[in-house]
Amino acid sequence: MSNQDAVAAADYSMRNWLGAEPGRIKIGSDAHKQLFCRMLLDTHNPYKPAVLVWPKLSPETLQRITSLPIWDIAVQTEGRAMLRVETYANKVTDPMLHEALIMDGGEEARHKVVLSKLVEAYGIALAPEPAYEVPKDPEWGWMVTGYSECIDSFFAFGLFESAKRTGYFPAELVETFEPVIQEEARHILFFANWTAWYRRQLPWWRRPLYSLKVLRVWAFLIWERIGIAKGLDSKGEMQDANFAITGHQQIGLDLKLGELLELCLVEDQRRMHGYDPRLLRPTFVPRMARLAHFFVR
Ligand SMILES: [Fe+2]
Ligand SMILES: [Fe+2]
Repeated sequence: MSNQDAVAAADYSMRNWLGAEPGRIKIGSDAHKQLFCRMLLDTHNPYKPAVLVWPKLSPETLQRITSLPIWDIAVQTEGRAMLRVETYANKVTDPMLHEALIMDGGEEARHKVVLSKLVEAYGIALAPEPAYEVPKDPEWGWMVTGYSECIDSFFAFGLFESAKRTGYFPAELVETFEPVIQEEARHILFFANWTAWYRRQLPWWRRPLYSLKVLRVWAFLIWERIGIAKGLDSKGEMQDANFAITGHQQIGLDLKLGELLELCLVEDQRRMHGYDPRLLRPTFVPRMARLAHFFVR
């Protein structure tokens, strides 16, 4: 197999996956856990950030890319995600779940390396990274990262596609980033199934407490995003503006909110399409987007 064929095969198998055993699967069962863990493990794309090619950009493109106000927040988000996922993984004793979580955290670490290579290749100036704190409650940290990714990835799908269509991102750069975006799709698919499985396998009397924790995570995320949108983080330091909310303005795309939401919904479906239909899909953010779309139409 030529190198190009191997890359194409890895790319196909990261996007298309069916569980080995046919038949119905009960959410919360051991078979369900095996299905979402195997999905993540089997669809891992073994690309190496060190060998990624960073295309030479024209002066205008270079200026456009380096002045995007997203790089600090992107690097810091990956750094925080990596630590939170790893911390939770180390607490999990179930061997299969542990293995899948370690892989998830390893992919976040790899995203950070990809970004650092990009920053280096194009001479992007970054703000000094803050010290990332180990979460006191590992489960909380994992849930915050999981639900955050459900929001951010949904919008990233649409923004990325739009930047690709308009040529805002040069084609070579789109190609380099494509696996990273699909990895986030796998992560939120994994997380949506984990949270459903986790709640179901709890004894019935502990489930309401878990649902309450989910609500607290959402409240935290909304509060955090309002803070970032104002340009301040929780410690009052200046941050990049919230990419998920204002990203389309920042990357200068002439896209109406309704069109962006439509594109996000289409892309979300497309990126989830190739995985076993018995796996649950993340539904909350797409549902909210559909509702918002109804009002802005
Ligand atoms: Fe990531
Ligand atoms: Fe992720």
